Amino acid sequence: MAKPKIQYECSACGHLSAKWLGLCPACGEWHTFEEKFTEKKSSSKKHKVDISNTESPDAVALSEVKQSKEERTSTNLVEFDRVLGGGVVDGSFLLLGGDPGIGKSTLMLQVAKERSDLKILYIAGEESASQIKQRAGRIGMSGENLLIYNNTDVRNVIDQARKIKPDILVVDSIQTVFSSELSSLPGSVQQIRECSAMFQQLAKKEGITTLMIGHVTKEGDIAGPRILEHMVDTVLHFEGDQSQLHRLLRGVKNRFGPANEVGVFEMRDTGLHEVINPSDLFLAEMNSDISGNCVTCIMEGSRPILIEIQALVTPSNYSTPQRTASGFDQRRLSLLIAVLEKRAAMGFAGQDVYLNVAGGLKINDTAADLAVVAALASSLKDTPIRDKSLYIGEVGLGGEVRRVPFLKQRLSEAEKMGFKNAVLPVSDTAGTFNMKLNPADHLMKALK
Ligand code: TYD
Ligand code: MG
Repeated sequence: MAKPKIQYECSACGHLSAKWLGLCPACGEWHTFEEKFTEKKSSSKKHKVDISNTESPDAVALSEVKQSKEERTSTNLVEFDRVLGGGVVDGSFLLLGGDPGIGKSTLMLQVAKERSDLKILYIAGEESASQIKQRAGRIGMSGENLLIYNNTDVRNVIDQARKIKPDILVVDSIQTVFSSELSSLPGSVQQIRECSAMFQQLAKKEGITTLMIGHVTKEGDIAGPRILEHMVDTVLHFEGDQSQLHRLLRGVKNRFGPANEVGVFEMRDTGLHEVINPSDLFLAEMNSDISGNCVTCIMEGSRPILIEIQALVTPSNYSTPQRTASGFDQRRLSLLIAVLEKRAAMGFAGQDVYLNVAGGLKINDTAADLAVVAALASSLKDTPIRDKSLYIGEVGLGGEVRRVPFLKQRLSEAEKMGFKNAVLPVSDTAGTFNMKLNPADHLMKALK
């Protein structure tokens, strides 16, 4: 009797190998290979190369292609619509990823609450209908328009969707849906690939807007095959610190609108609330009488957000002083300390340095460099920074203050929030504002 064939499959990219491997040669991930029994092929006929008699549609000139106008449905949540580019495109296929408990299911319920005129079919693979009802009670919705389906067999789901013809189909989550024709477990690469392909067809052929929720791995990628992200039209990430109230909805990929746009929400006990002015949220507890606090403006997509950077520099009790950063790249912090030591003659040897971005936000924008440097200098000298001052600029290794994009938008956000001073790179694009602008080309000048 022939033994069943065992193969090993990478759970990240689906690469197959006859042997177990620690490192996937295709995607470079470690420890992702899982055992997989291959199903018997129904026919063992060899695939023959034959190019005779192929009948297929002809290629069409681009100018002849009929353009279908994309219709959008608003979610009535301004922050959600902003990320989507003005509402969800009808018949599109979306993926919403995020850590467990961040609020993905709540967001979906809230769309159903806001658009009570839309029929929404909700495939509940993670929670029972009564749990969902309980949550709906918390956010204050009755939910006549929301149909809950507690079955995760993909065939049944698709039959239901065809029968009900919902305006939006929500699959919560893709990792719980399975096809009974496959032997692998729900959540495996094969299952996810197969089921998503079926939902994709449903979206494209029947025009049903389909929104899949996906889990996120430790590294922050959407669990399952990479191919999932290629299949969908839009990938959204819901992120935030569980210990903090705010949540960011980020558009990672968007075939129908801007990518990298950000929507801001706040998780309260009555569900998610939109934050129309995030600067207000992040500066709420700002105290400018304390040394080491400095405000900068970062860009999230096309949105300027004012945030507070806090530094604490204290004499160290260790032979190797500590450098700790939260919300900011640790290596960049070391670099900026080195620049301060060399170019501004400040001594951080024997000093512990702690840096914190208030509100639990993570920043990647180099425009925050100057504020980090100012906060460090302020804490080292124990002198508070003047009230209502904004610091923007990238700091180079020579101590020069470099230009940053979107200077105008950043400054007008600060003006709106009542800032009176701004230290910024020398630039002719700054414009005129109702505050004092202090252009600086070098660190030494900026820190004066
Ligand atoms: P949930 O939407 O279940 O997260 P996900 O689907 O991403 O796993 O969100 C659950 C969390 O949100 C849970 O920790 C409780 C919290 N929450 C509130 O704080 N307020 C609320 O009104 C609701 C509905 C949930
Ligand atoms: Mg959930």
